[in-house]
Amino acid sequence: MRSQPTYPAKIESDIQLLELLIRPSAALIESIRQISGPLLVLGAGGKMGPTLCVLARNAAREAGHSLAITAVSRFSDVQSREWLELQGIKTVSADLLDRTAVQTLPDAPNVINLTGLKFGTKTNPALTWATNTVGPMLIAERYAKSRIVALSTGNVYPRVPVADGGAREDHALTPLGEYANAAVARERVFEYFSQLNGTAMALMRLFFAVELRYGVLVDIARRVWDGQPIDVTNGWFNCIWQGDANEMILRAFSLASSPASVWNLSHPKPLKVRTAAEQFGKLLERPVHFTGNEAPDSLICNADKLCTRLGEPATPLETVMEWIANWIQRGGTNWNKSTGFEVRDGSY
Ligand SMILES: NC(=O)c1ccc[n+]([C@@H]2O[C@H](COP(=O)([O-])OP(=O)(O)OC[C@H]3O[C@@H](n4cnc5c(N)ncnc54)[C@H](OP(=O)(O)O)[C@@H]3O)[C@@H](O)[C@H]2O)c1
Repeated sequence: MRSQPTYPAKIESDIQLLELLIRPSAALIESIRQISGPLLVLGAGGKMGPTLCVLARNAAREAGHSLAITAVSRFSDVQSREWLELQGIKTVSADLLDRTAVQTLPDAPNVINLTGLKFGTKTNPALTWATNTVGPMLIAERYAKSRIVALSTGNVYPRVPVADGGAREDHALTPLGEYANAAVARERVFEYFSQLNGTAMALMRLFFAVELRYGVLVDIARRVWDGQPIDVTNGWFNCIWQGDANEMILRAFSLASSPASVWNLSHPKPLKVRTAAEQFGKLLERPVHFTGNEAPDSLICNADKLCTRLGEPATPLETVMEWIANWIQRGGTNWNKSTGFEVRDGSY
C-alpha cells in the first residue's frame, strides 16, 4: 500500500515552499520510468515550468532512472533560468514563434508544452493568437513523432450553471473573449496535427494552479488581509495545488493518444468564493467585505475523468488555505500576478 504524503503545518520560507513543490509522490516515481529522455519542457520559464522540471528530475533520481531534461523558454525572467541551471537542468533559450529556432531544438521523444499567453490580450490580441496558435503549429510539426502533453485551460469552456456541477470534457467550447477563443484554437491546432501525423497527445485543461506566491486562493486571501471588498458575482471556481498539477502533467504521458485525448485538470471540488473568503477571514482574523451576489453560473469543471485515471490530487485545499494565511501573516513572497478570478466577460 502507498504511504500517504505528509504535510507541514506551515511553510516558513521560499526554500521550504520549493522543496514541497519539487517533492515527487510514489505514483510519480513509479510512472517516470515510462518516460524516456530527453524530456523537453517548452515554455519552462513561467510560473509552473521551473518546479515542473525539477520535480521530474527528482522523481527520475528516486526511481534510479536516467532522464535528461531540457527546459526551453525565452527566459524573460532570468532568475528562473538561473534557478533551473543551479538545479542541474539544461536550459535552451529560444523563441518558439521562430520557425528556425524550433527546427533547431533537440530531438525528444517526450515533450510538454507550457507556452501560452493570457494577460495583455486586451492591448495586443495578435500576440495572444500567435502564441496560442502559431507556436503550437511549429511545435506539433517539429515533434510529430514524439508524445506531447500540451497545457490548455479551463477558459476554453463557457460559464456553466453551478447546479450542474461543472463542465465535462465533452462540453461545447464556446467561451467569451479573445484569450479564451485563442485557447480553443491552441487545442484545435494540436488536435489537427495529432490527427494529421498520428502524434500521441494529451491536452490538459488546467483550472487555476495555486501555490503561496500566486493563485486564486492567494488573490482572495490578500483581499481579505488588505480589507478590500471581494466581488462574489463570479461565485465559484476550481483550483489545484501547483505541485499536484505538475505531477499530473508528468503522469499524463500515459494518457496521450491520437486523436488527442482531453482532460480537465483540477481538484475535483469547485470552491465557493464567499466560503473561501470567510475561511480566510477566520484564519487571518480580519473582517470580510463582499460586493455583488452570486450569479447562477461560473467557470467550473467536473474533473472526475482525470481523477478516475490518475487518482485525486493529494494536497487538501484546506491545508493550502492554512499555508497561504500563515504565509501572508509572516510577509511571505508575493508575485503580484493577479489571476483575474472575478472576470466574467473574458477580457484579460
Ligand atoms: N498557472 C495557472 O494557474 C494556469 C491556469 C490555467 C492554464 N494554465 C496553462 O498552463 C500553462 C503553463 O502555466 P504557467 O502559469 O506556467 O504559464 P506562464 O507563467 O505564462 O508561463 C508560460 C511561459 O511560456 C513562455 N513563452 C511564451 N511565449 C513563448 C515563446 N514565443 N517562446 C518561448 N517561450 C514562450 C513564457 O516564458 P518566457 O518569457 O521565458 O519565454 C511564459 O512565461 C499556460 O500555457 C497556461 O495556458 C495555467
